[in-house]
Amino acid sequence: MEFITRREFIKSTGIAAASAVSIAFLPGIAFSASSGEAAFAASAVIQPSFAAPAIALSGQSFPFRLSPSGARASIDSAWIASPGGKPFVLSVENGHFIPTVPPPPGMYDLYLEVSMGSNKRFEKQPLAVKIVERFKTDYCFGAISDVHFGDPRISSMIKDFSVEETFKKEIQILNENQIEFCVCCGDLSFLPPRSKKEIIDYADALTSAAKFPTFTVPGNHDGYTSGAGGKINFDTLAQWTRSFGVLDYSASYGDTAILGVNTYNASPDKRNIFGGLGEVVDSGYVTDEQLLSLDAMFAEVKQTSKLKIALGHHNPTNTVKDVNGPFEIVPFTETGRLELLSLFEKQSIDYFFCGHVHGIYRERYANTEIVTVPTAASRPADGHPVAIYLVKVSDGKITDIETVKIAEL
Ligand SMILES: [Fe+2]
Repeated sequence: MEFITRREFIKSTGIAAASAVSIAFLPGIAFSASSGEAAFAASAVIQPSFAAPAIALSGQSFPFRLSPSGARASIDSAWIASPGGKPFVLSVENGHFIPTVPPPPGMYDLYLEVSMGSNKRFEKQPLAVKIVERFKTDYCFGAISDVHFGDPRISSMIKDFSVEETFKKEIQILNENQIEFCVCCGDLSFLPPRSKKEIIDYADALTSAAKFPTFTVPGNHDGYTSGAGGKINFDTLAQWTRSFGVLDYSASYGDTAILGVNTYNASPDKRNIFGGLGEVVDSGYVTDEQLLSLDAMFAEVKQTSKLKIALGHHNPTNTVKDVNGPFEIVPFTETGRLELLSLFEKQSIDYFFCGHVHGIYRERYANTEIVTVPTAASRPADGHPVAIYLVKVSDGKITDIETVKIAEL
């Protein structure tokens, strides 16, 4: 066989053939699947990722972030491809990916070959890149929350209710409405250690059907740890980081800024659902260090974006209590709660989309509209439906938030 570079090879052949040959030529590559498929992992590049996608104009570059722990890793090659489609090679320059040939508009998975010393990895982030011809002035986006894969609670209230089937139906509705993107305010999963796979179930459901990218942040259920005697044996949030990359992020659709906030930033022992720390285990935390980095992130888009949308799981106003059986739980601890609200005010955040309480609520804090997104597939709060939102934007303003009811108790 005539020798060609890996990059040339990728340009001229399909992904399946490329991964098969990489086994033959690069035996050091760590594959997670015996089929030779790329691992769903974000060891070197943490954004764009499945949870923090990039939406770029055709032929334009888009930025990426290296993992602080993977900063020593080098990117051997990068490309985007739609399933079964032709790959588009990305060159790497100054923290940006630059398509060598303009990809046509559509949804793409991001593929990376990275190495650290003699260790090589072949990684994939599904639905991580959307290429558009132009950014629309009038468009629609979807908002979902609290999908809760693995949660049995609602199936005891509605006969034959399936989280997976309900979520698939919602993805179909979002596809039919031709949304530009979706935001998801967390709680993809239920409890560890069962949830070892459940955040991936959420990703798989979207990957198999969605025609849009989804900006996702973790909820408390995606951050639970398990263990006893002070020893943590499983951390769902660590699994999130390994699979989906970034936890706090700044992304955009044209002049709309989309700012992801991890509101469950407590130490692993405080997130231990079996560890006996009581009801506060569910509540929101934002650390001082995180607030500093969010401040810088928000400041960067303050002047350049017409519409600034933040999303997180817990609502820091604590106006709506989380009712769980006989307990009324305050959604946010005092760790960073008021500081996060002040940050929204200081950086003129227009909207904060959140979840957690499984209901439909709207309120205002200073100039920020706080929109609670209902549960997409779990037990709703009393008197509230299982539902999703369709959000209409016109010339940098949200003009309508439509509730699409899926089920009522
Ligand atoms: Fe939830």
